[in-house]
Amino acid sequence: MQRTVLKSSALGFFIVALFLIFDSRSEVVRATRVQAPQEKTVDQVGKNIKVLTGLPESQLIPVMNFFAASMGRRCNFCHVNNQGQWDYASDAKPEKAAAREMIKMVLDINKTTERLKLDPVSCYTCHRGRTSPQSIPMLPLPLPSPPPNGGAAGGPTPGASPQASPSPTPVLPSADEIFSKYAAALGGQASIDKLKSRTAKGTVTQANGNSFQFELTQAAPDKFYLLVTTPQGTVERGFNGQVGWEKTTRGVREITGAELITFKATNGLFTLLKLKEQYSKPPRVRKDKLGDRDVYIVDGTTNDNRRMRLYFDATSGLLLRRTTTMPTMVGIIPDQVDLEDYREAEGLKFPFTARAAGIEVGNPTSTRTFTEIKLNVPVDDAKFNMPPKPATP
Ligand code: HEC
Ligand code: HEC
Repeated sequence: MQRTVLKSSALGFFIVALFLIFDSRSEVVRATRVQAPQEKTVDQVGKNIKVLTGLPESQLIPVMNFFAASMGRRCNFCHVNNQGQWDYASDAKPEKAAAREMIKMVLDINKTTERLKLDPVSCYTCHRGRTSPQSIPMLPLPLPSPPPNGGAAGGPTPGASPQASPSPTPVLPSADEIFSKYAAALGGQASIDKLKSRTAKGTVTQANGNSFQFELTQAAPDKFYLLVTTPQGTVERGFNGQVGWEKTTRGVREITGAELITFKATNGLFTLLKLKEQYSKPPRVRKDKLGDRDVYIVDGTTNDNRRMRLYFDATSGLLLRRTTTMPTMVGIIPDQVDLEDYREAEGLKFPFTARAAGIEVGNPTSTRTFTEIKLNVPVDDAKFNMPPKPATP
């Protein structure tokens, strides 16, 4: 029994390393099964939902992207596309039926991982970007790497001390000290507290090289308006403190749940400036490397029940990376942003480049490069409101 648990936790660690998160996530998963009461579930809004019952509506597309990413394919691996028209509700493809059986299997396996307090198993655990997981070891086996200290393989060296010359545990700063150093590196807590609004312009470049102009207007505490101009027309997104929305050439829609949390995390004025407040309890700190830089990693659960890891440069105190993960019933979905090119704009430092990476199969990365940042310019609050939906003809 003990042995099985150990083996499974080794597997757990592997998954964990992949998703850049470290412990007791099953707790997070359990916590987030309790959904905000107002959000509908996919079985209430979808046409043909048989197994993802209870999944919040806003998690459907992230989960579908997660399926595609796990299989190393796109949506059309499981869904019918008739001359450019998607029919997601159709059951014509056998792969969709196979995926339903797989979802049931994963939900079943995770009853066990939950009972054993292990990390949940997901499609990615087995598939790892391939339609056929490899279950049989490839022969010949690689030669095992030589055991450390020249000891005999298969056990500890007789007489060796359990741990050779234990190195002194490095003294770590507290999370509060890291946040204070960060605020100072940006230009001081007073300047951050004085910040009421920010307007910015720049370009956003997708993984396929397409590049668009954007304009971002943000106001305290969390209102924003984003305008992206593409050759197909403009895309607008906004949040007025209450209602999140998106307007495209196809119309206006309200944004809620997981999608709204993600939009706010990308576009809010203080999402990268006021960090301590976002954790639901004091986060843990450890030391690590990011590339060749020494970093302090601050890691904990956010008020939105996500996992957030922040990587601070140990020398400059600046934030270099933010990784968040969203637990869903079929897997943990990661999201990452790398911050570069810090420059001063009117007394505060901002990263002029933000490289985001996510689960979206068609668009795995997108980079925002700022060309202009202005602070405390008066803004008309009406900008953040959802535009009226055009009357349906
Ligand atoms: C590995 C197979 C697989 C892939 C890849 C996949 N899906 Fe799905 N999708 C399913 C299954 C299975 C269901 C039905 C779930 C159920 O019955 O509970 C579904 C349901 C849906 C639905 C709801 C349809 C309805 O009944 O109203 C939408 C929308 C959808 N998928 C979109 C997408 C998109 C967009 C992508 C690509 C990003 C995608 N899917 C990729 C397997 C897949
Ligand atoms: C415990 C391991 C495991 C997990 C977890 C798992 N799968 Fe699979 N899956 C398999 C195996 C094994 C096969 C059979 C592959 C073969 O026949 O070569 C398979 C086959 C499939 C197929 C059929 C592939 C084809 O070529 O037709 C689909 C679709 C699929 N899985 C989707 C999923 C989805 C979606 C999830 C997550 C909800 C998932 N799987 C989770 C092991 C797993």
